[in-house]
Amino acid sequence: MNYELGLIGYPIKHSLSPWIHKRFLEQTKLNGTYSIIEINPADSFQKAIEQLKGESKLNGFNVTVPYKEKIIPYLDEIDEQAKRIGAVNTVLNKNGKWIGYNTDGIGYMRALLHKYPELMNNKDIEVLLLGAGGAAKGILHALLHHGYENITIANRSLQRAEALALANESVKVLSLNEIEKAIGSYRLIIQTTSVGMKPNESAKIISLQSIDEQAIVSDIVYQPLMTAILKEAKQQGAKIHFGHSMLLYQAQYAFEIWTNERPEMDALDEELKKVLEG
Ligand code: ATR
Repeated sequence: MNYELGLIGYPIKHSLSPWIHKRFLEQTKLNGTYSIIEINPADSFQKAIEQLKGESKLNGFNVTVPYKEKIIPYLDEIDEQAKRIGAVNTVLNKNGKWIGYNTDGIGYMRALLHKYPELMNNKDIEVLLLGAGGAAKGILHALLHHGYENITIANRSLQRAEALALANESVKVLSLNEIEKAIGSYRLIIQTTSVGMKPNESAKIISLQSIDEQAIVSDIVYQPLMTAILKEAKQQGAKIHFGHSMLLYQAQYAFEIWTNERPEMDALDEELKKVLEG
């Protein structure tokens, strides 16, 4: 079997996904390719997708910005988690039928639990989600799926946080100001916004001054790896979790959907860290 894989989105020339999936193919000794399929938003998405589906060459592909929602009408089936999130980042071509999945949130949880397995036995800890956009949504659903009971969302726009929490009665909402004062109560803090990403490396969504020393602070930003908020968490004696691992584990889960093989991650994790550190 030759796996024809790829990524659709725009702009994606600098995506790390081809690098990751080529490593997976090498490691699992499967034959295949992973190509970049840029669809310019100025062109017809419908035309491009219908052509892709008609050719049926791809065995599977990832979907990224700005098409994670737009792809949904072209799917034949959608998995439960992706349906709940309302966004698809992975498509499997099963005998000409397209099945949509979302591996972001589950991938994020895999990465976090691999690094901090103790979190598996502590589902009653207070969890703070910073942000209420697409990334937060995927992670929130994965946290709920894993059985975390006490989740608070804090976001710049309260309305957006409330909209995200609405479907989940057990999820609380606070403003960024309120959360700064209450930060000591949280044992797991997940930063899901782009705040702190290059070139705004000094930006921090909140201050962690009175954080619990036992807390784990996780950031999904991976450029730079050591973001300002992670630096502060470390200075306060808390544990940290870098953003690149979400990228790796969402890719691992996608690769598994396509090939039924689960690549080994530890060496790759170190390698990607070095690539990102330059
Ligand atoms: P993504 O899909 O990457 O999550 P998104 O859906 O646009 O992107 O969401 C961006 C998130 O980052 C939102 O939570 C946004 O806050 P608002 O809902 O208030 O806009 C948050 N965000 C972006 N820039 C921010 C900033 N400078 N300060 C605080 N929050 C910010």
